[in-house]
Amino acid sequence: MTPSTERARRVYAERYDTQPAGVWVAPGRVNLIGEHTDYNDGFVLPFALPHLIAVAAEPSSTGRWTVYSESAGTEATFGVDDLVPGTVDGWAAYPAGVVWALHDGGLRPPPARLVVASDVPVGAGLSSSAALECAVLTALVDLGGLDLPLPRRPSVAQRAENAYVGMPCGIMDQSAATLCRAGHALFLDCRSLDIAHIPCDLAADGTAVLVINTNAPHRHVGGEYAARRATCETATAQLGVAALRDVGLDDLPRALARLDDVARRRTRHVVTENQRVLDTVAALRGNDLPGVGRLMTASHASMRDDYEITVPEVDTAVETALAAGARGARMTGGGFGGCVLALVDADRTAAVAAAVAGTFAARGFAAPEAFVATPHGGATRIA
Ligand code: GLA
Repeated sequence: MTPSTERARRVYAERYDTQPAGVWVAPGRVNLIGEHTDYNDGFVLPFALPHLIAVAAEPSSTGRWTVYSESAGTEATFGVDDLVPGTVDGWAAYPAGVVWALHDGGLRPPPARLVVASDVPVGAGLSSSAALECAVLTALVDLGGLDLPLPRRPSVAQRAENAYVGMPCGIMDQSAATLCRAGHALFLDCRSLDIAHIPCDLAADGTAVLVINTNAPHRHVGGEYAARRATCETATAQLGVAALRDVGLDDLPRALARLDDVARRRTRHVVTENQRVLDTVAALRGNDLPGVGRLMTASHASMRDDYEITVPEVDTAVETALAAGARGARMTGGGFGGCVLALVDADRTAAVAAAVAGTFAARGFAAPEAFVATPHGGATRIA
């Protein structure tokens, strides 16, 4: 298949009989470690994928925004009056939400005609939603010459998703789609929004991150995600802290003693996961890849046992990858399906992928897909 950038440009030219003013892209992402920590003011360590959503666009004199999705094969049109959360739904809620969030922030995005094409798998936990928001945002900011510096863009895209689409996500995915740098993982403090680009050239060390898409159907994603977030907020209030970020490892036993069983386990995950992110950054900086692997596997156990966001397919993929020689493995993303990351010696990627496929077949699961991921850059104009 031709890349999304080429398809966006070609479909634009075919539909409108003219070339777009430009083409903008934003990537999907995986999260190396730091799950469900972002909305607890904690730490995350994602990197962007080479899988891109592309937007070909041109300003429009109609005063409205027209967005065509190549994959859906449908077009949505909306004007300023339609920019009320809930008015536009389906895939078009993401671009409409971005226009709304820009307006809400006092900016005036230019009316435009946009064509979207995607190479980011949908429903796989690889943040296709954030990639769509950030590609549209980047296009509109550029087309309109809007005063919105890069560091402020993730929160505008997040606001589109929280307040317009209605998904109470944190800021990790939009930050990854916007701020990532090729060859690096993005270490983000979700409270201060400080970032550091951590060199992550695993190939140079003979290692690879194998992404295994379990193709497990996502179950209860929205409701369970919101429930986890609500439990964290209740625990925060009970502990009298601003966010679970403020509970340190030393305070943990005392804090946990004050919570009920569910809140105790959710809190333990968040607090220990924050520490695992810090330890992973130190391990990457120290070139300690076995250490990174151990932290990934510990993170998975915490998501499975304490946060309870895994499903049999992802647990099976992790166990099988480890048994086949992976140095570490964990689910990535919000949970309840999606992808597993395995840290694998570069010459073992095919063997690990085959082992997982074999176990899935034996257990009657849908066939998984696997690819090696190298860290890509964030949203940008490419033409
Ligand atoms: C989803 C959300 C993110 C983050 C992850 C879990 O991807 O969009 O904000 O909370 O889940 O780490």
